[in-house]
Amino acid sequence: MLIAQISDTHVGGEAVAALYRMDTRSAVRAAIDQINALPMRPDLCLITGDLVENGTAEEYRMARAEYERLAMPWYVIPGNHDARAPLREVFGDAQPFGDGAHGEFLHYAVERFPLRIIALDSLVEGRTHGLQCEARTAWLRETLRAAPTAPTLLMIHHPPFPTRQPVVDGVCLAHAGDFAALVSEHRRIEAIISGHVHRAIHSHVAHAQASSCPSTAHQMLLAFRREDPMAFTHEPPGFQLHWWNGPGTWTTHTVQVGRFDGPFAFH
Ligand SMILES: [Fe+2]
Ligand SMILES: [Fe+2]
Repeated sequence: MLIAQISDTHVGGEAVAALYRMDTRSAVRAAIDQINALPMRPDLCLITGDLVENGTAEEYRMARAEYERLAMPWYVIPGNHDARAPLREVFGDAQPFGDGAHGEFLHYAVERFPLRIIALDSLVEGRTHGLQCEARTAWLRETLRAAPTAPTLLMIHHPPFPTRQPVVDGVCLAHAGDFAALVSEHRRIEAIISGHVHRAIHSHVAHAQASSCPSTAHQMLLAFRREDPMAFTHEPPGFQLHWWNGPGTWTTHTVQVGRFDGPFAFH
């Protein structure tokens, strides 16, 4: 099973393009074109939050117009730049969010693939950091218990692991220790994928592989010192491809978006 991941598309209008000094909408289009043109078509594409910049319905309509071009099923979760009500309004008919009757959170499980996918909502509206509060943790515990033997992938916007970058670790998943404790009880969780930090980072949570994906737009400055500024760069955008071929197998490739010289023969 081949899973594409794109993240932090930050779609928006002209003011967003001015802020990031790039057209984020064309940037996600370029990533999607490249995914659609891969020699092996991914089975699905997971989009791990910060879909748009300001959480407006207008921006969500722009983002959806781009995502609809994906040649495979796709699933989204919210990030800190998202807003649940307009996200549900624009994507509700295309995503398994439910009707909101059992709570506002945009979390759900996808059961149609050999790997079960649990999509989490770590958004705290108006704040940069993420949270799995008691209600969300209870939902996750119950959802995991509903299929205890199913190999499972978790997707969550905020990395639940330290990136070792002090300036961003303060705005990742709060109470990540509680999250790790829950993961440790479920050995069938194969991997956890995230976004938010606009860089490809690999770590683990308990026994599970854990990673973050580059943005399809701007990247975050590599910043290992506390005094480093929180800043973005125009390092090449990227997406990830995750191979899963059965329990205990997980291989991730990070692919840069763009046209590059080559390929060249070695002889
Ligand atoms: Fe982001
Ligand atoms: Fe984010």
